[in-house]
Amino acid sequence: MQEHIIPHNFSLDLEQLKAIKKHNSFLLWFTGLSGSGKSTIADAVNQSLIEKKIHTCILDGDSVRKGLSSDLTFSPDDRRENIRRIAEIANLMINHAGLVVLGAFISPYERDRKRIKEIVGENKYIEVYVSTPLEVCERQDVKGLYKKARAGEIKDFTGIDAPYEVPSTPDIEIDATTCTITEAAAVVLKYVENKLTSNG
Ligand code: ADX
Repeated sequence: MQEHIIPHNFSLDLEQLKAIKKHNSFLLWFTGLSGSGKSTIADAVNQSLIEKKIHTCILDGDSVRKGLSSDLTFSPDDRRENIRRIAEIANLMINHAGLVVLGAFISPYERDRKRIKEIVGENKYIEVYVSTPLEVCERQDVKGLYKKARAGEIKDFTGIDAPYEVPSTPDIEIDATTCTITEAAAVVLKYVENKLTSNG
């Protein structure tokens, strides 16, 4: 199927985009349980980056699963496909559009997270593990999904009857129960400060 695909040479390459935008492009990947605070922290980081005139795009599970991945379930295979699609889109945004991409997805399998890194490039992947404990996510149950999962109304729910593989080497780990959203965002922003402008 790839045989007759000949990529177009677009007039601006990544180096030129970088020079115009005045910052590097990479992926900030937030992984953790549903209700752990991934999207909220990513949102706060995104807001600060935009205020600094950084060109960004933010994607999260609930928005992607309403559209791009609306045909997918939460089986291991479908979660893998969901993450693959997002990684490919992130790759285009990072390496063709020069954006800083923020992705907030449960992404419970180590193998799938490893694949994201392979797709976007090892040095362009920053993993943020939002390690808020299951008891807290379940107690707060902002979307009411844990209650439904416990009642058997939702199957394959992460943390209840589907696994979450804890990241072995995250770049950043944040337990949202131990800090405010502003403090959590500040930790991430501090980490990426140099990466926005460093060479290499
Ligand atoms: S992932 O596992 O494929 O990475 P993703 O981040 O896209 O998941 O979607 C997670 C969101 O879908 C959760 O925040 C939750 O609101 C909703 N959801 C619905 N069903 C499930 C389920 N079975 N397991 C986890 N999340 C679910």
